[in-house]
This record gives sequence, C-alpha cells and structure tokens, in this order.
Amino acid sequence: MVVKNVCCIGAGYVGGPTCSVIAWKCPDIRVHVVDKSEMRIKQWNSDKLPIYEPGLEDVVRECRGRNLFFSNNIETAIKDADLIFISVNTPTKTYGIGKGRAADLKHIEMCARKIAEVAEGDKIVVEKSTVPVRAAESITHILSANTKPGVSFQILSNPEFLAEGTAIENLLNPDRVLIGGEESEAGAAAVAELTWIYNHWVPSEKIITLSTWSSELSKLASNAFLAQRVSSINAISALCEATGADVTQVASAVGQDSRIGSKFLTASVGFGGSCFQKDLLNLVYIAECVNLPEVAMYWQQVTDMNVYQRTRFAKRIVECLFNTVTDKTLAVFGFAFKKNTGDTRESPAIYVCSHLLEEGARLNIYDPKVERSQIEYDLTSAAVTNEPERIKKLVQIFDDPYEVVKDAHAIVVLTEWDEFKTYDFKKMHEVMKKPAFVFDGRKILDHEALIKLGFHTETIGKRFTRNCLLRSSGGDL
Ligand code: NAI
Repeated sequence: MVVKNVCCIGAGYVGGPTCSVIAWKCPDIRVHVVDKSEMRIKQWNSDKLPIYEPGLEDVVRECRGRNLFFSNNIETAIKDADLIFISVNTPTKTYGIGKGRAADLKHIEMCARKIAEVAEGDKIVVEKSTVPVRAAESITHILSANTKPGVSFQILSNPEFLAEGTAIENLLNPDRVLIGGEESEAGAAAVAELTWIYNHWVPSEKIITLSTWSSELSKLASNAFLAQRVSSINAISALCEATGADVTQVASAVGQDSRIGSKFLTASVGFGGSCFQKDLLNLVYIAECVNLPEVAMYWQQVTDMNVYQRTRFAKRIVECLFNTVTDKTLAVFGFAFKKNTGDTRESPAIYVCSHLLEEGARLNIYDPKVERSQIEYDLTSAAVTNEPERIKKLVQIFDDPYEVVKDAHAIVVLTEWDEFKTYDFKKMHEVMKKPAFVFDGRKILDHEALIKLGFHTETIGKRFTRNCLLRSSGGDL
C-alpha cells in the first residue's frame, strides 16, 4: 500500500496543525481532517481559524481546498482513508474509577468503534492522542472484535510533541518522531508507510521506531520530565525568595552544567496547558495501578509543587497589598497559559485570578489573543467557583492595555507575551492608584526600570532590596 488518503479525526490544537503541515509537505497525499464539532470545522474553513498559532494561517491558506479538507463527514473520510490519525482529546476523567487522575478514553473508543463500523478496506490506525500505556491494545481489541471480512487494521503509536505557540516550527523541525508498531511483518509494513509520510520533510535519523508500549510511555515520560524541570526551578525560586538568592542567577549557573542544560529552567507562576497536569496525573494513576506507590508519589509531587507555586504567588500579591485586595482593582496582563497561543486550558491565570476574586478583588483583564467569552467562562465555571454571578460583577475584560491599568492598584503579569515588555510603564504609572505595584509572575519586565519609575515591584524568585529601602525610608510606601 502507498498512502494516498489520510484522515484525521479531531480538528483541535494537534490534529489541525499536524495535518496542515502534512498536507503542505506532501502534495501527493490528500488530507481530510474531520471533527464532530460543526463550529470547529466552520472555523477551519473560514478566515478566522479556531486556534492561533504563528505561521498556521499561511500553511492552511496554501493547502486548503488543494489537498487539505476540513469537514464533519467523518464516515466518508474514514472510508476513503488508507491511514487514519486519531487526534481527539483525552482529558482527565471527571467521574468513576480513576476520577481526577486517569485519562478519559471515551473519545478514543468512539473513534475506534466508528472506524470498525464504516471501514471497508485495510487501514492503518495511528494513535496521535496522548494515551496511557497499552491503550493501543484496547483499540486493537475493539477493532478486531468488530472487523468485517476482508478488512484488516494495523495500529501504530505516533505521539505528538509539538508545543502550542511554536507548533508549526516544532512540526517542521521535530527533535524526533516516534513510531511504535506491532513486532510483525504487517506491523513493520505499517511503520514503513507512516515513516514514508514523515520522510517527505523529516530526516530518517530523527524518526525512531520502537515498540508500541515504549512509544506510548515515552510521551507521558517526556511531559513528566518537562513539568518536573519547571517544578524543580519553582521550588528553588521559593528558596531564593526566603534566602535572598536570585533564581535567574541560580538557574543560569545550574543550566551551564552540560549534563543539566539551560532550557526550560525559567521560574514562573507555574506551568499550564492541557497536557502537563493531565499527563502527570495519568502517569501517577498508572504507577498506582501497577502497584508502584513510591513512583506514583514521586510524580504526584511535581503537580503538587505547581499548585503550591501559583497559590504562593497569589498569596504574595494579597500580602504585599497590605493584606487585603477587597474592592481593589488589579490589572491582569495575560490569561493564556503561555505566549503565542489563545489557549487557556489549565492556565495558571485561571487559578491566580480565582484566588484574588475569592479575596474580593476587582480584576481588569487584558490578553492579546484570548477571546473575552473564554475568560468569562474560565472564571465562572463550576471547577473554580460556586458564585458565578458574584464573579461576573468583579471581572472586566479590555481590548486596550492602557485602559486596563486606569485606577488599578497593581499590574499582575500572568502570561509572558512579548508585547508586555514594550509598554510605556511611565504612562501607566501615572494613571494608577499609588503606591502602584507590579507583580511579574513571568519574569519578563525590566524590574530595575519599574522600581525607578516608582513601582513597588515583586517577582518570582527574587526580593528587591530597593523596594525595602523605599518602604523603610517612608518613600513611595
Ligand atoms: P482538542 O480538544 O483541541 O481537540 C480534540 C478534537 O477532537 C475536538 O475538536 C473534538 O471535538 C474532537 N473529537 C472528540 N471526539 C471526537 C469524535 N468521536 N469524533 C470526531 N471528533 C471528535 O485537543 P488537542 O489539544 O488537539 O489534543 C488532542 C490530543 O493530543 C490529546 O490527547 C492531547 O493530550 C494530545 N496532545 C496535545 C498537545 C497540545 O499542545 N494541545 C501536544 C501534544 C499532544
């Protein structure tokens, strides 16, 4: 078989960009991305794509209607495809056994059943979603129990490593591509087909073939290691604040050890996004299920540290604002979980804002890419409050950062958007209540310059002695 038609079930943050890049790099392949959500597909077929990713619009514009199609015709797309990516969401379970930790595989199972129901010829089914180890086995069971005569399936694991905000860059130049398959002749043939697709632009040495179970676990392990680095430097940041050390200096010194490396060592208000927390919890759950409680506890601590970090930051804001934020207006810069995305899933901003709202603060929020309705939804959802009506009255969302700061007591930076560094903070200081505070949860601003402008400045992993001098000399405070 030479793959001519690819189908991708799930037109989300992974399925959309991944298949757009496949269509762009493989003009000889017809790529059909399908989703059960009519709204999402409508957006993929419009000028305003459902997700923001630098470079994505150009790729979609070039391929859409040529060899890239978005539709809700799931059955037709499955029938036509030689190879099917399953790229649906695998959130943490919110009910039943494993609630709050295990991955919910109901969407994956629905895809497997749909494929079994409508497939009329041989198919390669590729697990692109992040799944627990041995999920491919369940897919195989469902498919083989429902297979019609003359139809056969090969299941591959091909986890995605793109990071939101740099998805196109990551897809075009991946550090590695993992392809896990069955150890058999048919398995090897399926692996070769998927390898052939990637080989259109990814060099062979970056394409790693491994067992299905290793491939599945490698994805969970990678996210666990990345999250662990963030929690490790965040734990050090708390020590820095308590001891007078500067976490930027410590991270730089530690990172220069080539065994450790300097990437992903920036202390912050915490990690977010749809994956780290969910995949860590999934790993913890798997460890518990195979009776490895010490391993489970080890990884659990990584997510506990993340909760601690964002709570610590929120508490510090209240403490610095004279132990009360009730009825004080705080200007929140950034709501996305990281820069260059409009995604707010598990954003630390949700939790820091909720804590401040709980304390009675009024929040003026600005984010360059997050939709107003998304912010409203996140802050009033049942997961964070049982008083949505009270919260609605305390939150205002703005399109202009200079409007956000008017009469505010403090600026709270929760996403590392580059544009925040370019603002005229002198102008902002003039229209704020005094003393004016900045709480930089992302360590992106020029703190010395802010202190000179008269801001009381606080950040993660460092105490500013000049703030203290001002306080003790009766200066700004
Ligand atoms: P998403 O929530 O953005 O997209 C999933 C899409 O699947 C939704 O549009 C949903 O409507 C659709 N869907 C669900 N069930 C369906 C069904 N039965 N038939 C048709 N469509 C269906 O999720 P996202 O972020 O794209 O993640 C997908 C998977 O990729 C997850 O397992 C995630 O862990 C993994 N992943 C995500 C990364 C990210 O940065 N977002 C990075 C690497 C992996």
